[in-house]
Amino acid sequence: MISNNIEKLYGRVKSRALTNRQAELYKSLLPGVSIASFDSSFLSRYVGVSFEIGFGSGEHLFQLAISSPNKLFIGCEFFINGITSLLSKIDEEKIENIKIFQGDARKLIPEIPNSTIENVFLLFPDPWPKRKHIYRRFVQERTILGIYKMLRDDGFLKIATDCPTYAQWVNTVLATPSCDKKFAIETFDLSSRPDESVWPKTRYERKSIENCTFFSLKKLRSL
Ligand SMILES: C[S@@+](CC[C@H](N)C(=O)[O-])C[C@H]1O[C@@H](n2cnc3c(N)ncnc32)[C@H](O)[C@@H]1O
Repeated sequence: MISNNIEKLYGRVKSRALTNRQAELYKSLLPGVSIASFDSSFLSRYVGVSFEIGFGSGEHLFQLAISSPNKLFIGCEFFINGITSLLSKIDEEKIENIKIFQGDARKLIPEIPNSTIENVFLLFPDPWPKRKHIYRRFVQERTILGIYKMLRDDGFLKIATDCPTYAQWVNTVLATPSCDKKFAIETFDLSSRPDESVWPKTRYERKSIENCTFFSLKKLRSL
């Protein structure tokens, strides 16, 4: 059950009433797909584990799961309509390599053993463009360091945004003394966007009319 506290912090977790089918999937399918914590046995059961923060309706996670059935894809989201959209896709395609953490990704990150995760995706995070809301942005020194720790030595953190202020903010955080030299940084704009076969588009990106920035951050070996 999503607590009222989450609603206070992040706003509504449901935007419209669920259809009967969505409500049924939420009740019957979610319990078998959802995780309340990180299970270390995932690491031996799959050849790789990746993690998406705020998957929205789950298009990106779903495409990756279809392309790599021997890898596990864990998605974190608290938006119920988005979760039920992903559940519909999982149900239709009988996908078995997606797990959903219904809640704040920042709760799960500290549980994940060091140097274990292949990729972390943060695609179109809420931009919180006003200065007074900077503290709400997902990218902060502590979250970047948490992600750095959980990534394998050859792992990637991939971020996309269509908000220039957020793109600048990512660069600012990556340049702080605690995050500097932790990643090899590559950035792309729309003209050089990685191919959809390796970086599927999300619903947000399809609707966006702004130019987007894509960050591909390769973890540098722990010093
Ligand atoms: C702008 S939407 C983008 C959704 C999706 N990634 C896309 O590109 O279509 C941002 C999403 O991140 C989710 N979100 C924000 N903070 C989160 C957190 N701390 N943990 C999990 N999900 C989060 C929100 O519920 C929202 O669905």
